[in-house]
Amino acid sequence: MAVTELNIADVRDAFLVSLNAIHSLQELDDLRVKFTGKKGELTLLLRSVGKLPPEQRKQAGQEMNSLRDEIDIRLAEAEKIIRDAENEKLEIQERIDVTLPPKGRLKGAFHPVLQTMHEIADIMQGLGYSVASGPEHEEDFYNFECLNIPAWHPARDMQDTFYFNDGTLLRTHTSPVQIRAMLQYGAPLRIVCPGKVFRRDNDTTHSPMFNQMEGLLIDKDVSFSVLKGTITEMVNAFFGRSLKARFRASYFPFTEPSMELDIECVECSGHDEDCRVCHGTGWLEVAGMGMVHPNVIRAGKIDPNIYNGFAFGLGLDRLAMLKYGISDLRLLFDGNTAYLLSGWGGEF
Ligand code: PHE
Repeated sequence: MAVTELNIADVRDAFLVSLNAIHSLQELDDLRVKFTGKKGELTLLLRSVGKLPPEQRKQAGQEMNSLRDEIDIRLAEAEKIIRDAENEKLEIQERIDVTLPPKGRLKGAFHPVLQTMHEIADIMQGLGYSVASGPEHEEDFYNFECLNIPAWHPARDMQDTFYFNDGTLLRTHTSPVQIRAMLQYGAPLRIVCPGKVFRRDNDTTHSPMFNQMEGLLIDKDVSFSVLKGTITEMVNAFFGRSLKARFRASYFPFTEPSMELDIECVECSGHDEDCRVCHGTGWLEVAGMGMVHPNVIRAGKIDPNIYNGFAFGLGLDRLAMLKYGISDLRLLFDGNTAYLLSGWGGEF
């Protein structure tokens, strides 16, 4: 009947007009409910089919079904258009301009002493040494007693020790690791041990905490020339060039004979009387060393009649300062991140 046809055409027109006016997904949803919801115009129309005279039902039903299909399709098309437009808007809002200059984020950097530690450990690993470690809070036994420094020994005065009430102490050097390593691994043995050490010292060139690297080689028939070769090789590899070296006789209770190594001044090579690094002497003291005393080998439960060896101790802070041209020891320990991230040079 004409009324139904009219209603179908009216609903279709009303739908198309409303569809034209919408701009958002919310409006689209409202529209969907308005026409196809439970009480929507199309739904009501569909329900009214049953009230038509039987001969009209078929045609009206077909027309309504095709209107329903059309509405579904148009709603889906409209939804896609709105979503595309919204996505495009978002994309523009969130677009990253990769040509903008970066904000200049600070990069992390190793502390110069840690860097030095890594470099030297790496060189020594190339010579077959392993990296060992030991406690900073140490027993008198390992720090002194086993190293041939009994309680009465005047050498204890060489090292101003921080003691705890129970007689334990903060290790004054990395040498106690010599004993610990011998007891743990036995002979033959090649280790280096980097770490913090502590002495009651505090002025412009001394800090109560500083860093050493111990080296220990135990084997059969080790000669002093192996020590000389090893240590010069290491120092030259570290500084990246061949430096003049001299070995000065010295004294340590745990080595016999004992030496200290001086290297040619890395700043002036001995050519500047006013050199701020070597003070005109042309030499820099970098390591203590010697052939391990038989008493020390014995304390490590190794037979000194079968094995001998050498040990050395390096001041890592000083080596870091020399290599990286750092003039003030305090820069290493003040924790000034601006300095530590600056590449360790410049204005400081
Ligand atoms: N332990 C010594 C010091 O701190 C250095 C050293 C180590 C000397 C090993 C000889 C052998 O002064």
